[in-house]
Amino acid sequence: MKTPLSNKTILLIVTGGIAAYKSLDLVRKLKDAGASVSCVLTQGGAQFVTPLALATLSGEPVSTDLFSPEQEQRLGHIRLSRQADLIVVAPATANTLAKMAHGLADNLASAVLLASNKPILIAPAMNSQMWASPATQANIATLQTRGIHQVGPASGMLACGEIGEGRMAEPDEILQAITALLAPAAGPLAGRKALVTSGPTYEPIDPVRFIGNRSSGKQGHAIAAALAALGAEVTLVTGPTALPAPAGVPQTIAIQTAREMLDACLCHGPYDIAVCAAAVADWRPATESECKIKKEGEAAPTFSLTENPDILATLSQAVPNRPRLVIGFAAETDNVLDHAKAKFARKGCDWILANKVGAGQGFGQDSNEVTLIRRNADGSLAATPWPAASKQALAQKLAKAVAEALE
Ligand code: PMT
Repeated sequence: MKTPLSNKTILLIVTGGIAAYKSLDLVRKLKDAGASVSCVLTQGGAQFVTPLALATLSGEPVSTDLFSPEQEQRLGHIRLSRQADLIVVAPATANTLAKMAHGLADNLASAVLLASNKPILIAPAMNSQMWASPATQANIATLQTRGIHQVGPASGMLACGEIGEGRMAEPDEILQAITALLAPAAGPLAGRKALVTSGPTYEPIDPVRFIGNRSSGKQGHAIAAALAALGAEVTLVTGPTALPAPAGVPQTIAIQTAREMLDACLCHGPYDIAVCAAAVADWRPATESECKIKKEGEAAPTFSLTENPDILATLSQAVPNRPRLVIGFAAETDNVLDHAKAKFARKGCDWILANKVGAGQGFGQDSNEVTLIRRNADGSLAATPWPAASKQALAQKLAKAVAEALE
């Protein structure tokens, strides 16, 4: 049976982090998806998984040593770097990322990466401080400018017991990213470009304070992934969140403020589809103080606010490049349907998802409940309640409805 990765060859480089144990599962999943897999294991990686385990699962000998006459003769590092359709580094430690950024070639893995003329996907995994360190972030920025693809890292409990960003993406996510790179979905949205906004915006008051909200980005990111899974080429514009770039989404633009979000939405495109799931601040402080505002005397400071640009309304009007389908959300705590219908009319979008929010609902949750509002052919409004579901399931349902509407 032909599978998405049939006839594809992956070179998996396993470096020295505890997440290396997940790479065994990744090999199994890649094989199940029809790929041929060969592995390079660094000395560090071999502290966590054995060459025998990788060889057994991949069905191929494992390469470990740059200076082994036997290994170099069998499959030298140049050939290793050339025979794969994609090189995947999972886990990619801070050390390996630094070597890649600076062109070191002091072991088989780094020599293969330096000699490669193939696309490379990294799945970073490390302690959160190591990930956040200016050195690692500078290395990542360098690798991104060279077009290296990245999946994760995710946030959560790390092996060292700390909580933060640095967990390797799960094997399923890495598999999705590999599939998106090697076998772009020939789904119903293939050839369509989609824009998704996600997460909150932060509107600065002074260098340390901002006006923001509780949006986690879970819903918007899930929508971006679901549209990509149906074949759309998705650009995700996101406010600050703890989420990794979703699988299969080639372009993620991180912004802070509503004005930055608008610029990012308008400077790429045109798009066939726009979904505005971001919780954009309607207002921002009229002026941003250059210095931290001091607590002086008894009186609380007062701010005047000024209105932010409305991204959904702007995209809905953008002529001649208006996306064919512009979708908004209406986050409401009360009179949900009435307020959502009024917003629908005001913003000029094609569909709006009325979203009840409040304590334990909507923002930050893993599930969501919405009502889809759109126009019937005769111009009347149709409101279709969608039962509560995980944000992923809701995103898939929306992506399917989008695909049907654009058929
Ligand atoms: O991020 P999560 O934690 O997963 O939560 C998901 C969510 C609850 C944030 C999401 O499902 C949702 O409802 N998003 C819209 C949030 C919102 O702020 O809605 P609103 O009713 O204020 O805005 C209406 C629409 O206009 C939205 O599509 C919004 O993106 C858009 N908007 C609003 C203001 C503005 N200046 N520009 C905009 O584009």
